[in-house]
Amino acid sequence: MSYRFDSGADRSGGNAEKYALRQKLFGTEAVLPMWVADMDIETAPCVLEAVRRRAEHPVYGYEEMPDSAFEAQIAWMRRRHGLALEREWMRFSPSVVATLNVAIQAYTKPGEKVIVQPPVYPPFFKSVERNGRVVLSNPLMRTEGGDYTFDFDNLRSKIDTDTKLLLLCSPHNPVGRVWREAELRTLAEICLEHGIRVVADEIHSDLVFAPHRHIPFASLGDAVRDITLTAIGPGKSFNVAGLAISTVAIPDTEMRESFDAVYESIHFAQGTIFGHVGFEAAFREGEAWLEALLAHLRSNLAKLARVVARYPGLIHMHLPEGTYLAWLECSQMGLEGRALRRFFVEEAQLGLSPGISFGKEGAGFMRMNVAVPTDTMEEALRRLDSALGRFSGSA
Ligand SMILES: Cc1ncc(COP(=O)(O)O)c(C=O)c1O
Repeated sequence: MSYRFDSGADRSGGNAEKYALRQKLFGTEAVLPMWVADMDIETAPCVLEAVRRRAEHPVYGYEEMPDSAFEAQIAWMRRRHGLALEREWMRFSPSVVATLNVAIQAYTKPGEKVIVQPPVYPPFFKSVERNGRVVLSNPLMRTEGGDYTFDFDNLRSKIDTDTKLLLLCSPHNPVGRVWREAELRTLAEICLEHGIRVVADEIHSDLVFAPHRHIPFASLGDAVRDITLTAIGPGKSFNVAGLAISTVAIPDTEMRESFDAVYESIHFAQGTIFGHVGFEAAFREGEAWLEALLAHLRSNLAKLARVVARYPGLIHMHLPEGTYLAWLECSQMGLEGRALRRFFVEEAQLGLSPGISFGKEGAGFMRMNVAVPTDTMEEALRRLDSALGRFSGSA
């Protein structure tokens, strides 16, 4: 079966954040929005069909998330990622960010420290701060080749008795790393040694490009599993953020009970009737679509890399190992903060995420979301190429 990735449905007239916030964020609607992490690509036909079928039933009352939906995800996680999950460990969550907040409240007290490794998805540090906890920042380290890894020495030197939790982004937004087993094992050893629990945000785990392989943190043995909460869902990979559905897996009983105490005090209920059926369809029937999507994203990234390679004195990128987010290093352009953003908005007419929003370590970078249809990608590349061409000519 072939799927539609060459062009996409028009989202500009509706409530899509990516489009509706253009004026506010970029001061113009002329930019191609390639910022927030959702896709301008239609979701899988099996998801559309399941939601349509449910919409036709005229009663939209309370519904439980069915066991069959959890079972579909459990089977998917075993098959695709070698992670053995049990139904009893799993909870519904309307959002991975909500999960982060609940976990911070459940596993730390006000004033205690939570490890965050920037540059990273902004809610990682905002959730810690908004809950009155303290961010223990362990910035990612650049390797000789310019890629990122964890800074274990810095981490070891900063951990103290108030350090209780680590927020792991795996695969990592925005730098696109798919962490190797050795990197994860060292991180796990440090956490085990110091009694630090781990929230593994693995929402991007299905967006990994071969030969890279996502290794769930909780799959690193029983001891590691029992200090880990894993947050997963179809939001990114099936482009269903608007269905507001994800899950949480907490194998350890005590960790589960602490989580439940906060979770139940909020009353997340069970999600939406459309979320339940869309979620189950994605994990039961969506694998072929996901593989086709990955090939499309890989092709968009390769095209972007070819344009970037024409301007080695200005801009660099490492092909992401996972996620559809390209982390563009622009520091050699010699433009600071606002001027760099202005270049992308006014010269390239592209609405990207400024690297600085992922922490000060992101200064000089821009994050570009390439999860767009072929026609949009080609237009974006024309704009980027032409703006960089003019800039290099005038520099
Ligand atoms: C690492 C990461 N976690 C969580 C989210 C958001 O998840 P949700 O919409 O389920 O809160 C994103 C979205 O960009 C993300 O990149």
